[in-house]
Amino acid sequence: MAIVGVLSVALEIPDITPGVKFYTDAGLEAEVDGHRVRFHCRGQARACLELLGGAPRKRLHHVRLRAERLPALRSAALAGGATEMPPPEGFDSEGLWLRDPHGMCLHLVEAEPDPPPPPESVFVINSPGHIVRTRRSAILPKKAYGLVSPRRLGHVLVFTPDVDASIAFYTRCLGMGLADRAQNVIAFLCCRRDSDHHVVAFAKSPGVGFHHASFQVGDPDEVGRGGRRLHELTGKGDWGVGRHTIGSNFFHYIQDPWGSWFEYYSDMDFIDDHALWSPTNYDLEDSLASWGPAVPHDFVHNYEAERDSASPR
Ligand SMILES: [Fe+2]
Repeated sequence: MAIVGVLSVALEIPDITPGVKFYTDAGLEAEVDGHRVRFHCRGQARACLELLGGAPRKRLHHVRLRAERLPALRSAALAGGATEMPPPEGFDSEGLWLRDPHGMCLHLVEAEPDPPPPPESVFVINSPGHIVRTRRSAILPKKAYGLVSPRRLGHVLVFTPDVDASIAFYTRCLGMGLADRAQNVIAFLCCRRDSDHHVVAFAKSPGVGFHHASFQVGDPDEVGRGGRRLHELTGKGDWGVGRHTIGSNFFHYIQDPWGSWFEYYSDMDFIDDHALWSPTNYDLEDSLASWGPAVPHDFVHNYEAERDSASPR
């Protein structure tokens, strides 16, 4: 029994209009149904992101995870401090609805994985002693490139008041693996088999909340091109292009309409068997990036916790 993938994240927000614009500009396809909108990566049938309009403010609604052997997972989760909850209004009773020990809502479902994106051209680099690209240019004129579209949801980073407790619950009770961490400030969890370096990550904060969802694009150039364009369209904060130490992915983050973040990424470490992976506890200087621009002042600010402390749930 274990979590075997991340399927989607849902946010409640006041008005879907800015969200539809933001995520459509980011390259997702929107399916609007009244105050509710589901977003898909191009070519994928299953929604990877959902916005629920009509809420007083933005707040993480739930994270949907793909699970195996749900009855055993349910027992382990309840024994580990989770609480079962009825399906939220408007959602079906398929799978298992839980609050984790910190109150974050999870929807666990037994479902087939999305089909993998079709293979694309290999990103090659000429380096000292290794000439692998000859008689052609790596970069074409700008007009040769279409808009960047995310291929799939790769991971979700959420806030937790206790990183160690979240690691314990998600590894011992939900069968995930600790990939790496940076002290008690941030932790990255993978699935035990054939997993991106992280599919769920936790950053320390006074309360739970949504930090970012990250979407895979074709290569580092698409990270740069997509991130630059989205930042120019939004005019809000951004961070990138850079490369993470933990997970090794190239990144560009753009701030969404509510102060949390959207990430384009490329080239993440892959863990085919967690039993053969050695987690590292990094120093804090490695927690954010190996290189990149200066980090925005509110990059790790949990606006949800700030509001929650002012207005109790
Ligand atoms: Fe990320």
